[in-house]
Amino acid sequence: MKLQRWILTVLLNLVFINATFICITESSTPPPPFSCDSSNSNTKSFKFCQTNLSISQRARDLVSRLTLDEKISQLITTAPAIPRLGIPAYQWWSEALHGVAYTGDGITFEVGVIDSVTTFPQVLLTTSSFDRRLWYRIGQVIGTEARAVYNGGQAQGMTFWAPNINIFRDPRWGRGQETPGEDPLVVGRYSVAYVRGVQGDSFHGGKLKHGQLKASACCKHFTAYDLDNWEGNDRYGFNARVTKQDLADTYQPPFRSCVHEGRASGIMCAYNRVNGVPNCADRELLTGTARQQWGFHGYITSDCADGVRIIKENHKYARTPEEAVADVLKAGMDVNCGTYLANYTKSTLSQKMIKESDIDRALHNLFSVRMRLGLFNGNPKKLVYGNIGPKQVCTKEHQDLALDAARNGIVLLKNSARLLPLSKKTSSLAVIGPHGNNSHMMLGNYHGPPCITVEVLKALETYVKNTVFHQGCNAVNCTNVAINDAVNTAKGADYVVLAVGLDKGEEREDFDREILTLPGQQERLITAVADAARNPVILVLFCGSPIDVSFAKHNPKIGSILWAGYPGQAGGIALAEIIFGDHNPGGRLPITWYPKDFIKIPMTNMGMRPNPSSGYPGRTYRFYNGEKVFPFGYGLSYSTYAYNFVHVSQSSIYLTNLTDTPSTQSSDGVRYLSVSDISKNSCDNVKFSVVVGVKNSKEMAGRHPVLLYIRQEKLSYGSPIKQLIGFESISLEAGGKAEVEFRLNPCDHLSTANEDGLMVIEEGSRFMVVGDKEYPINVVI
Ligand SMILES: *[C@@H]1O[C@H](CO)[C@@H](O)[C@H](O)[C@H]1NC(C)=O
Ligand SMILES: *[C@@H]1O[C@H](CO)[C@@H](O)[C@H](O)[C@H]1NC(C)=O
Ligand SMILES: *[C@@H]1O[C@H](CO)[C@@H](O)[C@H](O)[C@H]1NC(C)=O
Ligand SMILES: *[C@@H]1O[C@H](CO)[C@@H](O)[C@H](O)[C@H]1NC(C)=O
Ligand SMILES: *[C@@H]1O[C@H](CO)[C@@H](O)[C@H](O)[C@H]1NC(C)=O
Repeated sequence: MKLQRWILTVLLNLVFINATFICITESSTPPPPFSCDSSNSNTKSFKFCQTNLSISQRARDLVSRLTLDEKISQLITTAPAIPRLGIPAYQWWSEALHGVAYTGDGITFEVGVIDSVTTFPQVLLTTSSFDRRLWYRIGQVIGTEARAVYNGGQAQGMTFWAPNINIFRDPRWGRGQETPGEDPLVVGRYSVAYVRGVQGDSFHGGKLKHGQLKASACCKHFTAYDLDNWEGNDRYGFNARVTKQDLADTYQPPFRSCVHEGRASGIMCAYNRVNGVPNCADRELLTGTARQQWGFHGYITSDCADGVRIIKENHKYARTPEEAVADVLKAGMDVNCGTYLANYTKSTLSQKMIKESDIDRALHNLFSVRMRLGLFNGNPKKLVYGNIGPKQVCTKEHQDLALDAARNGIVLLKNSARLLPLSKKTSSLAVIGPHGNNSHMMLGNYHGPPCITVEVLKALETYVKNTVFHQGCNAVNCTNVAINDAVNTAKGADYVVLAVGLDKGEEREDFDREILTLPGQQERLITAVADAARNPVILVLFCGSPIDVSFAKHNPKIGSILWAGYPGQAGGIALAEIIFGDHNPGGRLPITWYPKDFIKIPMTNMGMRPNPSSGYPGRTYRFYNGEKVFPFGYGLSYSTYAYNFVHVSQSSIYLTNLTDTPSTQSSDGVRYLSVSDISKNSCDNVKFSVVVGVKNSKEMAGRHPVLLYIRQEKLSYGSPIKQLIGFESISLEAGGKAEVEFRLNPCDHLSTANEDGLMVIEEGSRFMVVGDKEYPINVVI
């Protein structure tokens, strides 16, 4: 059955290309649909098929051959075939957030030989490793497996709509789990590493330029999108009110990195409005900022609940469908996930609200990306990535990487009296809680079929044969709890591992949380089990967004707390290794864990900075001035690490002669220079470096992320409490030492946004901070 459907699909894809092709039988997987078949005498003469011409020339040639109806047909993500030119159908929408995913219309696992893919931890957990090499390697694996899926005829496209790089602004956000957290530098660097990996660039970038793509990545959702559905406010109609200051140093930097350094070939404009203008209709944003200022070179798509339709229906920004179509095409959007552009572009044209050249511009961007993917270079199986096949999927190396990502992501939040690691001689264990025997929830959202799955229970059984399980709750929402049975199970075991938290029922796309505590009666279950257990218990939290677990932090019968995020296909194994000391945990939180009363502030308030007059506390470690359950960057280990500043190349930074533009004085009397007045070269002339020494002072080897912050001595209006300026994950033997060098320049690392949204460097003193050590530096203007 499966095989028949697969053959049918292949036949349908090839039917208009060249019948002789189907006779090739030596390969078990025929080529996926492609253009410019060299054995087809009709198509090979087309200029757009000549690979010795530039992509731009070829795209122009192709667009010039299309009729108006054909052109319009290509403006939606389900782009139909154009048989007379030998162009197959193309599906723009596929997903690969933490592994090639089911989500989207471009990938199928129901036909073909590949029925599973390497499924990494959900992004937020992977971020906790603060390890850019790891992020890059994950991107590479995803790019490889995506090619294999495509070569196997199971993909209708090679454009993947990841990474999700919106700032994780509010702990209630249902999609926070998909992001690399709350810090703009971390999110930006994650995006660069991931995009370079997926697209086939080198780790340091520069190999790819505008050339051939292994797979195409997409920076989304542009911009200030981080509310899904909260108390009647939904993303389709939401107007995010954002200050220029917050836009400049929080919401935009990840996108600039993703586009400018990562050279992503796609952008998705978000559903919401920003200060009244729907993102996909914002020419200043799409064309001015992304293309002109940041040098974006790729295609721009709408989001999928018809991101063009909502401009009329939800935002009521356009009065007619034609106005909405004109808005997006003139703004610089290229493709519509939906059908609006297919239905209304012709009438928009006849009402003279757009020119045909607006359509051609979009098509040029779209076909350029398809060409860069190699889909117009003849049989893709004969090209650079043509030999990537099913054998390169779920390899041992890829699966080890998924395990490594889980190991290095999981964060140890509490470990009283060094309860962990447990002895491997532990005679009996009880696993209690709704997540104890469920491997599926470990995948989070936007995943594909994993190569393997291992439940917590099964993984722990490999260490302690005598392990029993009780679910405790009826479900994750824990509307019913079996306290007595759970307590009895706990009493019978030496040690208890509680596996609790959230799942997609509690936090997901289109569904933000309302509370920050554990669902239903989970807290009651945990406390009762902890009270009854012979020894302090181990609490494992599976969740994306943070939970107020103050009750557990302060309960002496809860000895250890681990945050396991959604750890992916190998999460169970990683967790067991950490619990029994085969791996030394080193992850550090990529987000602030807020107390439960944080929900009194409206999720709709986009402000990052606190407002003393209204009592608004601000958001994220950079600005939030209230109590925290656990701070950003927090994470314990079985080792302890000590830092020192080994060398700072200069402790006074002279910016006196950097620019001809004189310095300005702010209203509070601080002199500053505007970064835009300083050339990159002159900024590089005053670069400086910092060497931090790190010592592992315990008997266990471990990986440790070193986080370097800057803190201004005197805060001017709106400057962050502190700001991460560098991070590096290092590996240290037991008792080992290492030095980490951070190379810094004033424009990137000493600047802050002012209220006009300009990045400026202020005069005055600051401290560089690593752990409990500080080092003063001074900026002279
Ligand atoms: C490109 O290749 C085609 C045939 O493959 C050839 O006819 C044409 O002259 C070449 N053009 C250039 C500019 O080299
Ligand atoms: C576009 O037209 C198709 C076919 O008539 C229809 O099914 C679809 O709902 C229309 N889309 C929109 C957004 O109006
Ligand atoms: C754990 O889950 C597996 C798979 O669903 C099931 O076969 C097994 O019986 C469960 N174990 C216990 C102890 O409930
Ligand atoms: C709790 O979760 C279960 C299982 O997913 C579901 O059947 C039930 O409707 C949920 N109860 C509530 C009150 O949401
Ligand atoms: C700046 O330039 C002036 C004139 O060229 C020179 O005298 C001075 O030493 C320079 N200052 C610094 C800090 O380099």
